[in-house]
Parts: sequence; C-alpha cells; structure tokens
Amino acid sequence: MINIVLFGPPGSGKGTQAQNLILRYNLKQISTGDLFRHNIKNGTPLGQLAKSYIDKGELVPDKVTVDMLVDDLVKPTDTNGFIFDGFPRTTAQAAVLDEIVREHLISEITICIALVVDDEILVQRLLERGKTSGRTDDSDESIIRNRISEYYRKTAEVAEHYKQQYKYVEIDGVGEIPEIAEKIFAAIDKVKVK
Ligand code: C5P
Ligand code: MG
Repeated sequence: MINIVLFGPPGSGKGTQAQNLILRYNLKQISTGDLFRHNIKNGTPLGQLAKSYIDKGELVPDKVTVDMLVDDLVKPTDTNGFIFDGFPRTTAQAAVLDEIVREHLISEITICIALVVDDEILVQRLLERGKTSGRTDDSDESIIRNRISEYYRKTAEVAEHYKQQYKYVEIDGVGEIPEIAEKIFAAIDKVKVK
C-alpha cells in the first residue's frame, strides 16, 4: 500500500496534484474539504455544522472531521492506497490518522509531501479560483487570509509529526503543474515499497 499525506497551505495545489497521483499510483483521494462540501450541498446536519466554520475560514472540530474521514476510509476499494488531501490539519488529527491507518488498513503513512508556496501567491491563486469554483471561502480576501492564518496557527506544526518519523518531504509548489508532479513522483518512488 501507498498512503500519501498531501500537505500545504490552502491554494498550494494539493487537490490538483492529487489528480496526478491517483492516475500514476491508482490511489483513492480522500479530501476532507470535498467531503464537507458534499455534505453542505446535500444539506446534512454535518454539512450545516461544517458550513458554520468553513464560511469563516476556521477549522471544523477534530472529532467531526475524523469521524467523517473514517466513514470514507472503511468503504471497500480496490486501489493501492490513499491520498489524504487537506487532512491532517492539526497535530491531534495527525496522531489519530496514524492510529486509523494502522487499525483499519493494517498499514502506515508512507510519506508526507509538503507543497511550499509563498503566502501572497496563495492569496492570488485562491482569489482566481474563487471566480469559478463557487466556493464562498475563495471569494473573499479576508476569509482567504484567515484560512492562511489558521494554517500557521494550527496546521503548520503538523510537519513536525512527519519529520520525527522521517517521512516529510518538501516540494517547491510554484511552477508548471507537470513539473511539480514529476518532483512528487520522484520523492514517492524513492520511498515506496516495491
Ligand atoms: O481542504 P480545503 O481547503 O478544501 O478545506 C476547506 C475548508 O474546510 C477549510 O478552510 C476548513 O474550514 C475546512 N476543513 C477543516 N478541517 C480539515 C479540512 C478542511 O476544518 N481537515
Ligand atoms: Mg483542496
């Protein structure tokens, strides 16, 4: 199995690169942000709760997010592993993810790929995406900036969790999408069990 944590601030290209990884390694993407948006669209109680945080650019409480993630993780799939996109967002989520992967997949996180992008480029990218994504949290600069602040307040420290396990690799996330993909593939091919 290959289980990849795609890490980085909002707008760093996690979702975009997940698409490349799915095709290359036959993985299933679990994007907690997408799962929240799916619930919001369907008007579920989980969606209503998540929306109250997402609309402010804040993080949804760990337990809510973890329970939703586990629901998706335990669904049968014939893929070679998982891409965790936008999760973990806190060190508590990172610790839980290790446990969940051990318990439910009898496996472990293979690698954490961190996409590095300058803050001002992030803001520009997200404002641009907001023109077509229909995402309310992409169309307001103050919400975008709060998402980036939340990242530094609560999420950036997740890197330490994977550094301690020697599973952390940083990739420059600025450039052409296929070039960035190649760098990610090289990092994964170096560590993946054949
Ligand atoms: O990952 P994505 O950018 O799609 O997430 C959108 C929003 O969903 C975040 O800004 C946050 O409000 C919420 N979220 C969260 N916890 C996660 C993933 C997303 O609270 N693990
Ligand atoms: Mg995303």
